[in-house]
Amino acid sequence: MLETLKNEILSAIAAANDTAGLESIRVEALGKKGKVTELLKSLGGMDEATRKTQGMLINQLKDEIANALDEKKVALAAAELNARLASEKLDITLPVAPVPHGSIHPISQTIEEVVELFAAQGFTLATGPEIEDDEHNFTALNIPEHHPAREMQDTFHLPPAPDGRKMVLRTQPSPVQIRHMRTHKPPFRIIAPGRVYRCDYDATHAPMFHQVEGLVIGKGITMAHLRGCLMEFLSAYFGTSVKTRFRPSFFPFTEPSAEVDIGCSRKNGELKIGEGDDWLEILGCGMVHPNVLCAGGLDPSEWQGFAFGMGLDRITMLKYGMPDLRPMFDSDVRWLQHYGFSPLHFPSIAKGTV
Ligand code: DAH
Repeated sequence: MLETLKNEILSAIAAANDTAGLESIRVEALGKKGKVTELLKSLGGMDEATRKTQGMLINQLKDEIANALDEKKVALAAAELNARLASEKLDITLPVAPVPHGSIHPISQTIEEVVELFAAQGFTLATGPEIEDDEHNFTALNIPEHHPAREMQDTFHLPPAPDGRKMVLRTQPSPVQIRHMRTHKPPFRIIAPGRVYRCDYDATHAPMFHQVEGLVIGKGITMAHLRGCLMEFLSAYFGTSVKTRFRPSFFPFTEPSAEVDIGCSRKNGELKIGEGDDWLEILGCGMVHPNVLCAGGLDPSEWQGFAFGMGLDRITMLKYGMPDLRPMFDSDVRWLQHYGFSPLHFPSIAKGTV
């Protein structure tokens, strides 16, 4: 009788063709109320001698069935996996679902480009604090206290430092010139991009904006070097067809001084370069004033140089045709998506994609 039961169960196992079917065979044989389980339970009612022989046989049967179930389970799982692998297909030509992503702010993009273009002319990067003292921001740059030139820059004044120094939010990155001259031995060429602050607000002015300061100190440096350096930069940044105007001007820290304007048109709320007869001023520059060299600890009879300060927001507006400066700092996601740059297509001279 045990033999019949065994053959019956083993052939059912052999015939099972999926894991669910195999599981019901296991429950029927070895489950709580399974046939083999019932046999084991019946041992309790037998006399000792029968229990001994029957017990051994029933346990053997149970083990054989358990082993057969295990083997079949492995075989069925492998067959089911193979069948699934054979039937399932992955369509790699389907477009992926769009994932929302951020973009590079046009100002960050411009800073990156400007740094790389000046790096190509041998400039290195320098930085300075945005909370600056009056001496670096004005006095050392040949703008003494009560000098009318201070009025040119509507300054945000801050409470004095603990040591009594008058503090301001820097109105220009020009103080980086002084910091660099006092800590480095010439010759050198530096650019210092960064945020500057002035109490001003209209379509082309914001209270926080961006400038890049440039300083070249060496021997025998002339105004021709200054002009060559700036024109080289401008044609690389805007393209060779851009119209430029190099015009005499005044700055306390340079003598002689000049300004550069870019030819553009401003009509119907649109700003375009390469057309029209309007001009937008983008930078001030000149030969470093002897007083500034002295303030930087350099001897003007030995060292000369030129400096410039360029509006990064201005050149960004011109290049990308943005008529108003203010939305740059409004954090409006629609504006950022429209004017922002993909991080994956970040144009970079060094990476050779411009
Ligand atoms: N700091 C000036 C400004 O913000 C710009 C400037 C003009 C910087 C002439 C210079 C320079 O270094 O030589 O208006």
